[in-house]
Amino acid sequence: MTLPEQQRRAYLEAMGIDVWVPRDADEAVDEDVDEVVGGPSGPNSFAAEAAPTCSADADWDELRACVADCTRCELAQSRTNTVFGVGNTAADWMIIGEAPGAEEDRQGEPFVGRAGKLLDQMLHAIGQSRESVFIANILKCRPPNNRDPKPEEAASCREYLERQIEMIGPKIILAVGRIAAQNLLDTDDPVGRMRGHAHDLDGIPLVVTYHPAYLLRSPSQKRKSWSDLCLATRLAAEAGA
Ligand code: URA
Repeated sequence: MTLPEQQRRAYLEAMGIDVWVPRDADEAVDEDVDEVVGGPSGPNSFAAEAAPTCSADADWDELRACVADCTRCELAQSRTNTVFGVGNTAADWMIIGEAPGAEEDRQGEPFVGRAGKLLDQMLHAIGQSRESVFIANILKCRPPNNRDPKPEEAASCREYLERQIEMIGPKIILAVGRIAAQNLLDTDDPVGRMRGHAHDLDGIPLVVTYHPAYLLRSPSQKRKSWSDLCLATRLAAEAGA
């Protein structure tokens, strides 16, 4: 992506990137990769016990109701609210994160905490907004104490996300963070290996980038994230967005 210097600077600033401090930009830092989160695992007794079905061709209202009443995994017992997702149901861009945190659980909306503010800035930097994209997570319920989602929780929730993707028909999916990317791509690769190039999710271009919460801890990685956003923008344009 070639941008006029002034515009490039404005974008970098919107993402909170100090354009004049590139010192540790090349540092090979990655998100921790100590847990493998792959695709569906074995049977889940809680799911087997109480799994209300949602039709495969559920519309938005039905899907919302299914998620709101979901008891497919043990997270139903500890959640305050389900976090269905937010934004434009005909969006070109779909942003997929990991799972609700404490604030999202309280408000029932994804990415409303500090990481959410940075995500908003990242979206702004590429000319998008919370209203123009659709934001969802691998999980619709908060794992207690911010632990990683368990494979069986991700498997129980997958159908909801798949139906959302199907109904939205995005031109580009941006997976933010290790958990989102590993689950969507069914791999245990680290983010450092997944980011920086295009993937394909059932015919939809998918780009992986760092989770905004990680970027808050490691701001030097914002440059790489910016380059991922540029790649996603290019792919979206190629797909007709
Ligand atoms: N982190 C996520 O991955 N999703 C949210 O909704 C909030 C924080």
